[in-house]
Amino acid sequence: MTYESQADARIGGSTTMEHGASVQTDRPILEVKGMCKTFFTKERTVIALDHVDLAVHQGEFISLVGPSGCGKTTLLRIIDGLELADAGERTLEGVPLSGISQDMAYVFQDINLLPWRSVLDNAALGLEARGMSKQERRERAMEVLEMVGLASFAGSPPYTLSGGMQQRVGVARALAVRPKVLLMDEPFGQLDNFTREALQIEIAHLWSKLGMTIIFVTHDVDEAIFLSDRIALFQPAPGRITEVVNVDLPRPRMEYDVRAQPRAIELRSHIMEHLRAGKGMPE
Ligand SMILES: Nc1ncnc2c1ncn2[C@@H]1O[C@H](COP(=O)(O)OP(=O)(O)OP(=O)(O)O)[C@@H](O)[C@H]1O
Ligand SMILES: [Mg+2]
Repeated sequence: MTYESQADARIGGSTTMEHGASVQTDRPILEVKGMCKTFFTKERTVIALDHVDLAVHQGEFISLVGPSGCGKTTLLRIIDGLELADAGERTLEGVPLSGISQDMAYVFQDINLLPWRSVLDNAALGLEARGMSKQERRERAMEVLEMVGLASFAGSPPYTLSGGMQQRVGVARALAVRPKVLLMDEPFGQLDNFTREALQIEIAHLWSKLGMTIIFVTHDVDEAIFLSDRIALFQPAPGRITEVVNVDLPRPRMEYDVRAQPRAIELRSHIMEHLRAGKGMPE
């Protein structure tokens, strides 16, 4: 079964609408309740998360936006199981989770590809722990490299690729494990605007084609508006979600200039106002 047919089966085969926009169901695929995390260091105590709740629906694209240090990465790491919470619970498809979830994949801001491995072997990295044969891993990695337009670089070392291409290998590596939920922590933060916009369009395409559920961290309000169904706004010290904004703009959004839409301008100023009120501006 290919990734695409699996994605269709997963959401009842009704994921893709005429223009590739996703159909969502009301069932939350992922729920986070009462999540708390405090960090203690010699110098200070930081309440990174203070009773954070979040329900993410199947096939949804949700962004986490807020000033630096408000707990976005901490929440994402706790969702994935990379970090332990002090209190709170998380469920995936109604099942409580403990430890690292094999059903989720994480795209880090700093992709850290292994320089001694080919692009193909980097894309296959997450599959090794899953007990897959070498042949199967290579086929799976090739499939995702094709999706991100890098099949012809499969045999190359990663350092021969541009920053944007390396970031796409990072996305391919996460997609290769066919995650139910894809977690992306400022994946395009280090890229120039042009590459960043190209990758935003690519991820929007992949999201609608594969019917994925994505939780996406960004400082860029326009990026969040372009990509998201909903945007969770954070405020710092203590880190908490203070509002969730519905992005009621038609899809597919790559077919028009989203930023120029009056509704997008309204949403943007509402979000900026909210963030200013919390005394923290996105960088
Ligand atoms: N391992 C740690 N030890 C101590 N403090 C930490 C640790 N990890 C995070 N923190 C603190 O917790 C708070 C939240 O950090 P986090 O990385 O989640 O913020 P963020 O919203 O992702 O910020 P940014 O937008 O800059 O990436 C910050 O004050 C940070 O200094
Ligand atoms: Mg962060």
